[in-house]
Amino acid sequence: MSATPTFAIVTGASTGIGLELAKRCVREGYDLLIAADEPAIEQAATSLRSTGSEVEAVQVDLATTEGVNKLYAAAKGRGVDALMANAGRGLGRAFLDQDFTKAGHVIDTNVTGTVYLIHKIANDMRRRNSGRILITGSIAGFMPGSFQAIYNGTKAFLNSFSFALREELKDTKVTVACLMPGATETEFFKRADMMDTDVGTTEKDDAAEVANNGFDAMMKEKGDVVSGFKNQVQSVVANVMPVGVSASQHRKMAEPGSAKNNPASRER
Ligand SMILES: NC(=O)c1ccc[n+]([C@@H]2O[C@H](COP(=O)([O-])OP(=O)(O)OC[C@H]3O[C@@H](n4cnc5c(N)ncnc54)[C@H](OP(=O)(O)O)[C@@H]3O)[C@@H](O)[C@H]2O)c1
Repeated sequence: MSATPTFAIVTGASTGIGLELAKRCVREGYDLLIAADEPAIEQAATSLRSTGSEVEAVQVDLATTEGVNKLYAAAKGRGVDALMANAGRGLGRAFLDQDFTKAGHVIDTNVTGTVYLIHKIANDMRRRNSGRILITGSIAGFMPGSFQAIYNGTKAFLNSFSFALREELKDTKVTVACLMPGATETEFFKRADMMDTDVGTTEKDDAAEVANNGFDAMMKEKGDVVSGFKNQVQSVVANVMPVGVSASQHRKMAEPGSAKNNPASRER
């Protein structure tokens, strides 16, 4: 253990998996810088501070260059020991029925903003030859996401990117891990307008358990962790299933009206 307090950044820490990652960080004694784009990030910071940890919050849209720059500036040059690049959002419905501005915001948040932040902080880590990065990907990245097509594509990108960056940094003391949750109980499906779908309404994993699995994987310097046995099976199956079959399976859980308790849902 280092004598000086360690410092972590968690993005998307106002709710869900990110808030649970932030709670774990304060339990482990990290000073924290947290970010999200709604005022709830301030409430999260207030409750995290009650543990006695130093917690600073910034309200920024991480889909934008300015938002990422503002978050980076808020670290005031302090060396980041752990970066949890977790902020992300989904978007349900058929691609052609989506508002393209919203679809673009999903790509800008999940992909462009995430890799821009990692580019800045991982460069600092490489200069210091020290640091840990945890990227929240998803098992959704293993499947073509019919009725959530853009989102699954962004997560396929992050799953792949995470392993590529890990390999590029393998001769340094900077580690990269990818947390790949399955469906988890958070605000995600409501925000993605998917509460009339099977996946949006089915029982889900506990966000704290998922976050702890991710944090542990990062500390053990693992490449990835698929959280939960059911999701591990699903990801193995997705890797051997013909991709067209996978796309058809995804329709069953993500198509609007597929919620089991919805009379309009239909068997395919
Ligand atoms: N829940 C699942 O089933 C599931 C499964 C696999 C992977 N994941 C991934 O897990 C991560 C966390 O999601 P969650 O499930 O915990 O959902 P959540 O409760 O909706 O949390 C998402 C977090 O990201 C923040 N965020 C979203 N867009 C942002 C932006 N443009 N700028 C700044 N902050 C932004 C949100 O803040 P605001 O409220 O301020 O927007 C919130 O803090 C995401 O990357 C998601 O893709 C989730």
